[in-house]
Amino acid sequence: MFDFRPDAGTPKPEAYRQLLDAAEALTAGERDAVANMANVAALLWDFLPQLNWAGFYRMVDGELVLGPFMGRPACIRIPLGKGVCGTAASEAMTQLVEDVHAFPGHIACDSVTNSELVVPVLRDGKAIAVIDLDSPEKGRFDQHDAAGIEALAAMLADRI
Ligand code: SME
Repeated sequence: MFDFRPDAGTPKPEAYRQLLDAAEALTAGERDAVANMANVAALLWDFLPQLNWAGFYRMVDGELVLGPFMGRPACIRIPLGKGVCGTAASEAMTQLVEDVHAFPGHIACDSVTNSELVVPVLRDGKAIAVIDLDSPEKGRFDQHDAAGIEALAAMLADRI
């Protein structure tokens, strides 16, 4: 049985350290990318409060394609440069969006989403996937969330 949830009130940097350790342990020695992304999506869902979607889009033949996730069914294909995910992938840069309604070209997969954090998983400087977190709360994500998910993305770069 896996029970990796942090205690209520754990400060964000410590919660992200625990999340990284759990993800490292769950994916160590496993070569199957889908299995690893599926378990990490479940961990993100368990660890992080106030989310309505958590998961992966993978770079396949030059576009982003839906990967393992938790939450409601989502858009399947996102062209590079489109939406928050396509922007994170094409610029190879984290996108921290306090209000998705103010982000030009935001792709609304679920109308309850108000804020979003998208972190590219980089290999040789190029995005091979993105980690996408959505929240119904405006301004849900801050620099601690960005740093925590960037550390996770770096760890996963050769495991997905
Ligand atoms: N909102 C994203 C699309 C993916 S869903 O949020 C799951 C975007 O603008 O790229």
